[in-house]
Amino acid sequence: MAYELLTLERNDDGVAVVTLANGKVNPLSRELLGELKRAADELAADLPGAVVITGGDRIFAAGADISQFGGPDEAAEIGPLFHDTIGAFAALPRFVIAAVSGYALGGGCELALGCDYRIASEKAVFGQPEILLGIIPGGGGTQRLARVVGPSKAKEMCLTGRQVKAEEALRIGLADEVVAPEELHDRALALAAEVAKGALAAQAITKRLIDDGLSTSLDAGLAMERAGFVEVFGTDDSQTGVASFLEHGPGKATFTGS
Ligand code: COA
Repeated sequence: MAYELLTLERNDDGVAVVTLANGKVNPLSRELLGELKRAADELAADLPGAVVITGGDRIFAAGADISQFGGPDEAAEIGPLFHDTIGAFAALPRFVIAAVSGYALGGGCELALGCDYRIASEKAVFGQPEILLGIIPGGGGTQRLARVVGPSKAKEMCLTGRQVKAEEALRIGLADEVVAPEELHDRALALAAEVAKGALAAQAITKRLIDDGLSTSLDAGLAMERAGFVEVFGTDDSQTGVASFLEHGPGKATFTGS
C-alpha cells in the first residue's frame, strides 16, 4: 500500500530515507503514525544498511495532532500508537539517524529521541511543550529525554515547556551534531552511507547491547556483552574483518553484512 503522509526511498548505497510529508507542520496524527509504523515494519522486513528520518524544511514535526486529542479514552489509544511507532524505529537493528531541520516539538522531539543519532540544522528547535497544554509527553519523552540529557535537564524542559535551540541542544547532548541548514541532508546521507557499508551484523549486536544495557545493571550489561562478543565471532564479517586486518591493515575490509 502506498504512503500518503510520508515518503520512503531506498538509495543504491543501502540508505533508506523516511521523509514526513503531512502538510506544513507535520502533525503526528493517528494516520501519520500508522504510516510510520508501516514504514518501520517494511524496513524491518527488508533491512536497509541505515535509515535517515527527516521532516519538513522549517518544521521537522510539530508533535501529536492536537486536534485529535479528547479525554482519557483517546489518550489510551494515542499513547500506544506513539510508543509502538517510535519503538519500531528504535528497535530496527540498524543505525537510525534523525535529520532535524527545524522545529521538533512534542512527538517530533520524541521521534527524534527514538532515533540513534540526531543531526540538527542550525535552525533546529527542540522541545516538549506538552505541559503548556496541561498534559505530559506521551511518546517516550519522559523516558528517552531523561536518558539522553539527564533527569534534571529533562525535568526542566518538560516542566516548563521551554524550547531549546540547536546550539544548546548540542551542548546538552540532545543534538549530536549541528550543521548549516543547507548541509543537513548531505551530512545525514553521508553518515548513513558510511555506516551502511559497515559490518551490519556486528552493528546490530552493538546497538542492541547499548540499548538493552541502558535499562539494566552494569553487571548484567557486561554479561550481555560477553554473550554478544561470542555471537559476533559467528558472523561472516568477523572472519572477513580480522583476516583483512592481518593481511592488509586496518579499515580495508569489504563486508557483506552477514
Ligand atoms: N497539532 C495540530 N495542529 C497543529 C499543531 C499540532 N501539534 N501544531 C501546529 N498546528 C496547526 C496550527 O493550529 C495552525 O493551524 P491553522 O493554520 O488552521 O490555524 C497551523 O498548524 C500552523 O501553526 P502556527 O502555529 O500558525 O504556525 P507557526 O509557524 O507560527 O508555528 C509551531 C509552528 C510548530 C512552532 C507551532 O504551531 C507550535 O508550537 N505548535 C504546537 C507544538 C506543540 O505543542 N506540540 C505538542 C503537542 S502535544
